[in-house]
Amino acid sequence: MNNILSIIFVSLFSLQAGMAQAADAYVPKVYGKKGYVWDEMTPERIQVLKMGGDPVKGKESFRGCRGCHKADAAGVREGVYPRLTGQHASVLIKQITEIRAGIRKNPKMLPFVEDPAISVEEIGDIAAYLNSLTSVRENGKGDVDMSVQGKKLFTDNNCFKCHGVNGEGNAAKAYPVVAAQHYGYLLREMKLIMTGVRGNSNPDMVKAISKLKQEELEAVADYLSRLPDYRTVAASK
Ligand code: HEC
Ligand code: HEC
Repeated sequence: MNNILSIIFVSLFSLQAGMAQAADAYVPKVYGKKGYVWDEMTPERIQVLKMGGDPVKGKESFRGCRGCHKADAAGVREGVYPRLTGQHASVLIKQITEIRAGIRKNPKMLPFVEDPAISVEEIGDIAAYLNSLTSVRENGKGDVDMSVQGKKLFTDNNCFKCHGVNGEGNAAKAYPVVAAQHYGYLLREMKLIMTGVRGNSNPDMVKAISKLKQEELEAVADYLSRLPDYRTVAASK
């Protein structure tokens, strides 16, 4: 082989290697594993955020989700399926794209949110639609009212600094709304985050929640489940 040819071959090979690397350059990292960075943007989330969302189209795209999250998107009272109504679009997009990427494990739901069940564009549409909804059905609450103790724990453990005094979360920072969510779901997620099982945990939240005992977790979940929709609170101010 003459020199020119070998240079061409070598550059073709490195070009190919470079392309292969670019295609699978994105490797999801989960909480507790080396290299995990909370809220790290996945290539897909960047794409969704650029596209924006159309709530009218989102209503159609939500059809495949109704079996579990119900037609009104308010989930079920026992909390197996969470309420998605009024959640910040940024949070919904973060959760759906991280479930698709395998960062937050949800094998039951994955086939319904994966390609081709929904496209990248439909993620933003669904998020815009869900954010526009208000729940009419009552949510699940704890058996006994522990909201006084729960409120104190929510304040003393600085939970409000991220989730807001009315449980309204923070759209810009992708902190979820926790007000008026089902008790069962709140309790389960706090445990999944505390034990690191929820792959997309915020390390500062893990620290904050780790101090709570079982009955304290129950009190906080009960308190949050009894808070009104954060938007009615804002409107009455
Ligand atoms: C087979 C049942 C099932 C279907 C169908 C389903 N989901 Fe879910 N979804 C779940 C379960 C269960 C959870 C809670 C998982 C957990 O406990 O972490 C969940 C959680 C979520 C969350 C996270 C909520 C939060 O507060 O963090 C979002 C967002 C979501 N689903 C959106 C959707 C969308 C959009 C669709 C349709 C494209 C859909 N789901 C279809 C079962 C389902
Ligand atoms: C540093 C900010 C921060 C602090 C402090 C914090 N959280 Fe969170 N919390 C988050 C984020 C972010 C999530 C969602 C996980 C994700 O997707 O990254 C979350 C999720 C949750 C969820 C599950 C909600 C859902 O829709 O899935 C509950 C419940 C919750 N937090 C309660 C609490 C309580 C109670 C405390 C105080 C002991 C607390 N958090 C402290 C940031 C925080």
